[in-house]
Amino acid sequence: MIPKGEEKKKFVKNKFASVTKRYDLLNTLLSGYTDHYWRWVAIKELKRYKDGPILDLCAGTLPLTAEIIRQKKRHVVALDFCFDMLDFGIKKYKNTKKAPYISPVCGDGENLPLKDETFWGVTVAFGIRNLSRPDKGLEEMYRVLKKGGRAVILEFSRPQNPIFAPIYRFYLHKFLPFLAGIISGDKEAYSYLANSIQEFYDPPVLAKMMEEKGFKQVRFRPLTFGIVTVYTGDK
Ligand SMILES: C[S@@+](CC[C@H](N)C(=O)[O-])C[C@H]1O[C@@H](n2cnc3c(N)ncnc32)[C@H](O)[C@@H]1O
Repeated sequence: MIPKGEEKKKFVKNKFASVTKRYDLLNTLLSGYTDHYWRWVAIKELKRYKDGPILDLCAGTLPLTAEIIRQKKRHVVALDFCFDMLDFGIKKYKNTKKAPYISPVCGDGENLPLKDETFWGVTVAFGIRNLSRPDKGLEEMYRVLKKGGRAVILEFSRPQNPIFAPIYRFYLHKFLPFLAGIISGDKEAYSYLANSIQEFYDPPVLAKMMEEKGFKQVRFRPLTFGIVTVYTGDK
């Protein structure tokens, strides 16, 4: 069972703090490096605005932030409420060419410490599912976007193919927590990952929620048999 409300916030923050050092390795290992492709596709969806920073919400150890900088050469405000994840990411890029483009903020994605209509682009990869109130997160993303700006969401979904779906479920609920538990030392964190994917909204429902928060031209498309879905919405 996944806790709700403030309990979920505490739980999620603790779990990410506990797996921080192994987070990047496990992402790459468990997805067979496909996570890099997913982030590449997501950032391709950002429009080509001439100036201004981009907000990367639930930035974690900054893999999506790094992809934004690689593709767009743009300043990124990278926000996460787990200090350990953010700190790990900052240290990773400290002596690289990407460092001057990164402005880290430790804060809550459901209550952004940022002004209205500041960003041309807001991104969130594998974060919206982790919020205790995804609707509040969407509201905040909309609020800080400039008119004409675009939000891009990358999130796990559930494959629908009748042959592939049961294989994926076995992988997600049995193999993944087992292997990730050994490597990270926190099996519970990866059982949470599996359960949170299982319980998360179907893509059309999340797209509808985006529309209800005011986003226009909302689109979504599955990647890799629907293991993940990339959503875009404009303001
Ligand atoms: C699965 S990680 C994603 C990291 C990164 N975006 C990526 O592409 O791998 C989810 C992140 O969401 C963060 N998070 C969850 N709830 C949050 C909240 N309410 N405010 C800010 N960050 C949050 C967690 O701390 C964690 O670092």
